[in-house]
Amino acid sequence: MEISTSILNASNRREVILKLNESLTDYIHFDVMDGEFVENTQFQVEELVELLKVSNKKNDVHLMVKKPLKYIEAIKDLNVEYITIHVEINENISEILDFIKDNNIKCGLAIDLDTDINLIKPYLDKIDLALIMSVKAGYGGQEFEPKVLAKLNEIPNNVKKELDGGIDNKAISLIKSADIVVSGVYILKNIDKNILELKNANN
Ligand code: DX5
Ligand code: ZN
Repeated sequence: MEISTSILNASNRREVILKLNESLTDYIHFDVMDGEFVENTQFQVEELVELLKVSNKKNDVHLMVKKPLKYIEAIKDLNVEYITIHVEINENISEILDFIKDNNIKCGLAIDLDTDINLIKPYLDKIDLALIMSVKAGYGGQEFEPKVLAKLNEIPNNVKKELDGGIDNKAISLIKSADIVVSGVYILKNIDKNILELKNANN
């Protein structure tokens, strides 16, 4: 399993990215929130661009926003491995996924904690990654919900499976079939030690 570290709850994000650059994390996870799709607001476009430039890891951008296009436009020429949008937004999902792919970036579709997994199924041929929320989208530091693990079985193996939210050294032992796990608050408590604990948990 690969590890994607969320910097959402870092008090000094730039400093944390510099530390993560030297760590064993596989990805840095950027949680972008518009105050509309979720009530929280995080990352103005300018801050997102600046921080992506600080990272020398693969970057994984999770857009919890109603209108993703302006964010995609702003970051499409930067070092971004995945851009993930939410299936619940009221926009033309296929068109946005195509736009991401046309820019040679892998595209992901995220599904919130209480959303039916069937909503993702029409897009499975198109996406590189399915991001399954294991907390309700909006905040870091929430408790992992084991009920979402069943959703992983609904995703075919040619699509990467990413689990996001509440993952610590206890929750990780329940997770068998994810390709990437996102962890924020837990890793930020002790970056090198806790990344190693998550990496070693299921070996
Ligand atoms: C929640 C975010 C998650 C979160 C992960 O809306 O999508 O990426 O920041 O952080 P923790 O591990 O603190 O739940
Ligand atoms: Zn996230």
